[in-house]
Order: sequence, then C-alpha cells, then structure tokens
Amino acid sequence: MLTRATINDGLVSSKTMVYLYVRISFDSKVMGKRLGRIWRIFAWLLPSYKMRSAFVRLSGVKVGSGVFIGSLVMFDSEYPELIEIEDEVSIALGSIIIAHSAGSPFQARLKLFSSAPEKVVLKRGCWIGAGAIILPGTTVGEAAIVAAGSVVNQDVPPYTVVAGNPARPVRKLETRTRP
Ligand SMILES: CC(C)(COP(=O)(O)OP(=O)(O)OC[C@H]1O[C@@H](n2cnc3c(N)ncnc32)[C@H](O)[C@@H]1OP(=O)(O)O)[C@@H](O)C(=O)NCCC(=O)NCCS
Repeated sequence: MLTRATINDGLVSSKTMVYLYVRISFDSKVMGKRLGRIWRIFAWLLPSYKMRSAFVRLSGVKVGSGVFIGSLVMFDSEYPELIEIEDEVSIALGSIIIAHSAGSPFQARLKLFSSAPEKVVLKRGCWIGAGAIILPGTTVGEAAIVAAGSVVNQDVPPYTVVAGNPARPVRKLETRTRP
C-alpha cells in the first residue's frame, strides 16, 4: 500500500501517481465496455426474459422494471448508456436498437460523414415488434406499437401503431381504462 510517507520519501513521485490514476481509470472504462459487450451476448441467449433484462441492464442500457426483452435483441454496443427503456416495455425477438451512426473509417478520414451519437428512448409500455430497427435520436411514445420489421427513423407518437420502412402511423390506440 502506498502511504503519504513513501510518496513524500520520493519512492513514488506525484507524476507517477497521476499516471497510475489516469491509467487505472482508463483501463476500468475500457474493461467496463468490454464486459458490457460480454453481458450483452449472454443476454441474447438466456432462457428467461427477466435474466435477459438483468444482463442488458448490466451491459449499460437503462432498463426499467417489468421490461420484456426477447431473445437475440441487439443493443448499441458503443453507447448502451444512451438507450433508455422505461417500465413495462416489450421488445420482441430480433429487434435492433442503435444509438450511433459511425460511418466507415474511410469516410471519417475523408470527412465525408459524421454524426454524433443520440439518445433512444422507449417510453413506458410501448411494444417493439419482432425484427424492428430503432434508429438513433428517436423516441417511441408511451404504449405505442412498432409493427414487426419496421424501421423507426423519427419519433413515434404515444398510443399509435406505426409500420413499414420508414415507419409511419397506421392507426391510433384507444384506451378504456387508466394506466
Ligand atoms: C402491428 C400489428 C400488431 C398489427 O396491428 P394492427 O393495428 O392490427 O394493424 P393492421 O393489421 O390493421 O394493419 C394496419 C396497416 O398496417 C400495415 N401493417 C401491419 N403490420 C405491418 C408490418 N409489420 N409491416 C408493414 N406494414 C404493416 C397493414 O398492412 C395495414 O396496412 P393497410 O391499412 O394499408 O392495409 C402486427 O402487424 C405486428 O406487426 N405484430 C407484431 C408481432 C410480433 O412482433 N410478435 C412478436 C412476439 S411479441
């Protein structure tokens, strides 16, 4: 253990301390991201939705309570922290939720394309149909439905069914009871 005395005695210089501090925090950040990717892969295959939700949460995605996550659902591996899933959301198998559009290294070098990562929010009680793709910067409204295979590239209003690529409203949902 490093004590003030050993530091003051010159055994460990303050420069070394700063270096070690920066190095350790960098490593734990990198490790955190790597571990997150491993948790996400477990989550694809785990047999219960509760276990899948727990592992997706571990991977850095913000997951509310009572959230159903089907198998093989893929979340952005670079920016999981930008994905927010509110309570009682249901995400069917094979859906993809993405928070960034990086482009290729070639495009980056030529400054052809760049786009900042953007938040994705799945509001309370919405349902994402099988194989849907939710793109960066979008919010799926409360209790909305995204039809199977749809591509969401703009906000989905609450209590609305959207379908197609790009996903567009096809009907409104009526409720007879209070949530
Ligand atoms: C969206 C869904 C729930 C149907 O909702 P609905 O309100 O009953 O919608 P309808 O079937 O009346 O369809 C309304 C319109 O949307 C279109 N539509 C419905 N689902 C669609 C889809 N997946 N892709 C493209 N268009 C779709 C219909 O063709 C129809 O278009 P039209 O009015 O031009 O004929 C259903 O199509 C769906 O996608 N279910 C997801 C199933 C799933 O993922 N299950 C996983 C296990 S939880």
